[in-house]
Amino acid sequence: MQNETQASRANGYEDLITDDRVHSSLYTDDDVFEDEMASIFRNGWVFICHESEIAGPGDFVRRNVGRDPVFAIRARDGEISVIENRCAHRGNIICQEDSGTAKALVCQYHGWAYDTKGALIDVPYPAGFKGDFACHGLERLPKVDSYRGFVFASYNADVPSLLDHLGKATALIDQAAEMSPVGRLRLSGGWITHRFNCNWKMLPENDTDGYHVNFVHPSFAQAIRSNYDEAVLQDEESLKSQAKDWGNGHTELNFSPSYTKSLEWFGCAADRYPAYTKAMTDAYGAEKGESILLDGPPHAVIFPNLFLGEMNIGRFEPVSPGVCLHIHTPMYLEGVDDDVNHRILRQSEGALGPTAFLLADDCVIAERTQGALAGEGGWLDLSRGSEREVTDESGIVVGHLTDETSNRGFWRHYKKVMLASDPQPSPAVAVA
Ligand code: FES
Ligand SMILES: [Fe+2]
Repeated sequence: MQNETQASRANGYEDLITDDRVHSSLYTDDDVFEDEMASIFRNGWVFICHESEIAGPGDFVRRNVGRDPVFAIRARDGEISVIENRCAHRGNIICQEDSGTAKALVCQYHGWAYDTKGALIDVPYPAGFKGDFACHGLERLPKVDSYRGFVFASYNADVPSLLDHLGKATALIDQAAEMSPVGRLRLSGGWITHRFNCNWKMLPENDTDGYHVNFVHPSFAQAIRSNYDEAVLQDEESLKSQAKDWGNGHTELNFSPSYTKSLEWFGCAADRYPAYTKAMTDAYGAEKGESILLDGPPHAVIFPNLFLGEMNIGRFEPVSPGVCLHIHTPMYLEGVDDDVNHRILRQSEGALGPTAFLLADDCVIAERTQGALAGEGGWLDLSRGSEREVTDESGIVVGHLTDETSNRGFWRHYKKVMLASDPQPSPAVAVA
């Protein structure tokens, strides 16, 4: 006899995601995870790196696209390629360092050598090599594009343009870049990885969840009362910060409405960095320069894996249904004195580093949630604030900081992507 779970196997994503709730199998099911790797991480755009990480010819960084190991490398002509990190001979890893500079890439197994665009250029003992070198290059991802230095790639040659994917959220990337008086960022501080024993979607969800801060991070909140007091720690009526859905799965916590003084987001007095302030007003004009210094950087997720974490940049990497990585680096600014970037580094260490509070707190909560979703699981509620959010004139949905406007936006896009690729998945769940 067919039970409720089996009967619902064909319901798929249409039923597993509604306007105000999602089913827990989306965090635990192996088939869902496989669908995500195909539909989100291979079919769509994925953030890879920042151009500043590979500024010179031959510079490379290792990354993963979903579970596929790749590296991004800049050729002598300046072109950036994103290439599968797997030898065309018998599959050994080519790039073993996380980052570096190379004139050519030589496989350690049998010595095949590739140029910085992935073409095979040399094979040891070539008399035994059949065929044409040109047929034995490394696999390059067909689509690579960048926006203001943020490099994205896709395995899908027919993917809509990067600008289509970013949509209105280019403004969030602009906001990050324009923290620099010359409009340029530099990711040279090194990356720190936190391994979370939870599903990867809990990272974008939690990083734009404004509801949990007071409960999960009380020790952090007390330690930095100076600049988060107004932004996240008021009573419900007094909070001016917002949760936003920018469309296409891009989401934000907007703290700007809470700041009343220049550099408040930086946790310091308005006159603390006069050279930076002057450089900003010189570069952008008095009005815009002052408004950038008042509003501060974005706190936003660009779907699916880029975190604009105020003065940090983060990446999310799925490993398996129950494991993922949260990887971050300080967002240094070009065109400022070293003391500004020193403060950014110290704040990054203090907030997100290995001895800090924030990610450790979030990690414990996420692992507990993942554990509670084991087995048949159940429904997760996302209805908070659905009655009071509003859509502004540009189509951005705006809610109270503590509302689930951002998470509903994430899931709305997730559902669209998953249904577009596979209308009839078969996660084994009971749909109530
Ligand atoms: S596996 Fe790379 S040269 Fe053989
Ligand atoms: Fe948190």
